[in-house]
Amino acid sequence: MSEDTDTPTIYVQVGGMATFKRLAEAFYTGVEDDPLLRPLYVEETLEAPAERLGLFLAQFFGGPPQYSLQRGHPMLRARHLPFRIGKPERDAWIVHMLAAIDETGIQEPARSEMREYFERASTFLINQ
Ligand code: HEM
Repeated sequence: MSEDTDTPTIYVQVGGMATFKRLAEAFYTGVEDDPLLRPLYVEETLEAPAERLGLFLAQFFGGPPQYSLQRGHPMLRARHLPFRIGKPERDAWIVHMLAAIDETGIQEPARSEMREYFERASTFLINQ
């Protein structure tokens, strides 16, 4: 994410791929019981969405490009257009993600950088 060669990427700071997997799993454990968000996911289990989110975030925060190798260009806004995302859905999403960051034990300064990114990205995906 950063061009600054002295600062390790967030991917490295938080402990690499294993941490992003735990983050995505913690996030989807929250979604599983969320009456507003769960119906948006058509798949029976949230395992595949967790895998995709973990790989995407690992790549976004400076890790290997596994997500793009499997899924192509992220195009997140386009990929979210089929789902009704209003302010309530966005707010529910962010509550689960902020909780997942803390459950995963992600420390500062990565914690704040990630929180800010998620606040922005989730607002950008509002489409209703
Ligand atoms: C604003 C609230 C959001 C809602 C309600 C939402 C909902 C969904 C749903 C229903 C899917 C389809 C399940 C799947 O194919 O994986 C999905 C996919 C995905 N979402 Fe979100 N999402 C939100 C925000 C975000 C944000 C902020 C990010 C990233 C920072 C994100 C990243 C992804 C990724 C990477 C996928 C998989 C895309 C693919 O490869 O097909 N989402 N989301």
